[in-house]
Amino acid sequence: MLSNKNMKAQEVFDVYSDCIMPTYAKFPLVFVKGKGGYLWDVQGKKYLDFFPGWGAGNLGHCHPKVMSAVRDQVSKLIFIPNNYYNLPQAKLAKEINFWADGKFKVFFCNSGAEANEAALKFSRRFGKGRYEIITFENSFHGRTFGALSATGQKKYQEGFSPLLQGFKYAGFNDIGQVKSLISEKTVGIMLELVQGEGGINIADKDFVFSLRQVCDEKNLLLIIDEVQTGIGRTGKMFCYQDYGVMPDIVTLAKALGGGLPIGITMIKKEIADILSPGTHASTFGGGPLICKAALAVLKAIQKEKILANVRKMGGYLQEKLESLKVKYPGIIKEVRGLGLIWGVELNKEGKPVVEECIKRGLLINCTQNRVLRLMPVLNVGKKEIDKAIAVLDDALKGG
Ligand SMILES: Cc1ncc(COP(=O)(O)O)c(C=O)c1O
Repeated sequence: MLSNKNMKAQEVFDVYSDCIMPTYAKFPLVFVKGKGGYLWDVQGKKYLDFFPGWGAGNLGHCHPKVMSAVRDQVSKLIFIPNNYYNLPQAKLAKEINFWADGKFKVFFCNSGAEANEAALKFSRRFGKGRYEIITFENSFHGRTFGALSATGQKKYQEGFSPLLQGFKYAGFNDIGQVKSLISEKTVGIMLELVQGEGGINIADKDFVFSLRQVCDEKNLLLIIDEVQTGIGRTGKMFCYQDYGVMPDIVTLAKALGGGLPIGITMIKKEIADILSPGTHASTFGGGPLICKAALAVLKAIQKEKILANVRKMGGYLQEKLESLKVKYPGIIKEVRGLGLIWGVELNKEGKPVVEECIKRGLLINCTQNRVLRLMPVLNVGKKEIDKAIAVLDDALKGG
């Protein structure tokens, strides 16, 4: 048995290589403590986390309100399945609807992929024989078979054929192509409003408005995947609220749980009852413990005026990134983002820059090989942004 106390990083790496499936690319870092926007590794080194939990850490590590909600619920009832009622689930469904103008019924599950699977299964029932869904190039919807088939990136699909039938991929922001792909079998259009994994590509407002129009004309479902953009990341509770369109289905996960696993499929009330008892289920979905944590997240967002901070600090981060672009015109091709999700597209590989940042105590991500992805905690302040920009500046200087 390994003793927790004296375990060295190398011993942890050895156990991983012996006993854990190698499905993740990893940095050689073992983290043991987190607080707000900071993490500490096993050697005691402190890191500023500008990519907390792959988008799951909107409120930062170990938010005190989430911790006390979990502590409270753990002592009462950890889990009760869905053939009974539980209070935190009811409260959470109501709270979600408070933020979504009372328009949705929700299905609870445990992850983003599962939330998208529920959306896809629902679409099949809604379609009554129509089953095709148009998704987009460079999209990312998860790793389960339905979500993977919806994902418009071949690299994730290689070796897993045959995939689920019925997906057609259009160019992002290309309404002409979307229209040309619609057939009598089409039942829906599914997209992220900011493609996160795809390189921080932002949907045009006109494009999304046109998608809504097409969906209305042809009786198609507009499905918005907010697994990464939801829960305040872009400055509204849900990113679709920035676009002034009402989706038929919204999927959520990541940040809603405050670090614990949750997924939600929100379906417009008028059509929600298509999935009747027995048609879909998840054993752990909507258990009292996770719902209590999610309720604490939503309350903290309101109480701590997080959405206003996202808009303010988002503007500040943009300004700072734009000035780096001016400083390094040969290295930085483009800076793009919304709220507190930002991409810095480089003219070269991003991995060495990420590694330089890590050495200097800053955690960021790189996607699509060349796009640095920055998604700080939503309660970030100017001090942390200045620090991150100084590190990034140094790392770029080195290149
Ligand atoms: C937009 C989007 N949808 C779905 C998923 C899948 O979520 P999960 O990893 O929780 O299954 C992700 C994960 O990164 C995502 O970014």
